[in-house]
Amino acid sequence: MGAGATERTTRAPPSMLPHEFDAATRALAADGWCVVDNLMTDAQTRALASECATMHTSHRLVPAATGTDRALSLLRGDSTRWFDFGNLSAPQQAFVDRIDELRIALSRGLLLGLIDSESQYAVYPCGAGYARHRDQLRLSDARVVSAVFYLNANWLNVEGGALRLYLADASHRDIYPRGGTLVLFLSAQFEHEVLPATRQRMSIACWMRQRAVPVDH
Ligand code: OGA
Ligand code: MN
Repeated sequence: MGAGATERTTRAPPSMLPHEFDAATRALAADGWCVVDNLMTDAQTRALASECATMHTSHRLVPAATGTDRALSLLRGDSTRWFDFGNLSAPQQAFVDRIDELRIALSRGLLLGLIDSESQYAVYPCGAGYARHRDQLRLSDARVVSAVFYLNANWLNVEGGALRLYLADASHRDIYPRGGTLVLFLSAQFEHEVLPATRQRMSIACWMRQRAVPVDH
């Protein structure tokens, strides 16, 4: 047999190749949430962390809750900055490219109709958290999948700062914000909270969205 024939018989058609996000797709279908560890390389994660820290130091993140909204400031203590899709930095572009690959894989695998995503840097100062809440806004069901990517290198569990996901059976799971970890969960399904930490906590909060369907009341 010639080399060409061998190649033809051993190469699987593209549709049969296992995709790197198959496990995440299956876990999201089965449980509604999962952790993905291979989204970005260590160097890409470090570049995002360094940009986030620099932007925070130069006051380019703004408190998610302003002083005038007392109810919101009791709810959450982080500062955020949306990615500007018309003007992404190189580290942000790399993140958005990977999130798009994941979004397309999830959308295909789960028939979700995810058309785009929105992302923001979030920094929680020492001692700050985000009280139990749901991500899907009440009057818009555009947010389908919540994705939180963590940026702190060498996070220790004793430093706190876990994302606490409340499951349907009234138990919960704590996911620690270790740099390079991505957690995915269905935005409509899971109440969750951010527990306070003894260290500044940095992340990218991202939502994969479907076409918004107005909700009639
Ligand atoms: C949010 C949120 C979780 C986290 O931004 O809505 O719940 O772990 N973030 O940072
Ligand atoms: Mn949330």
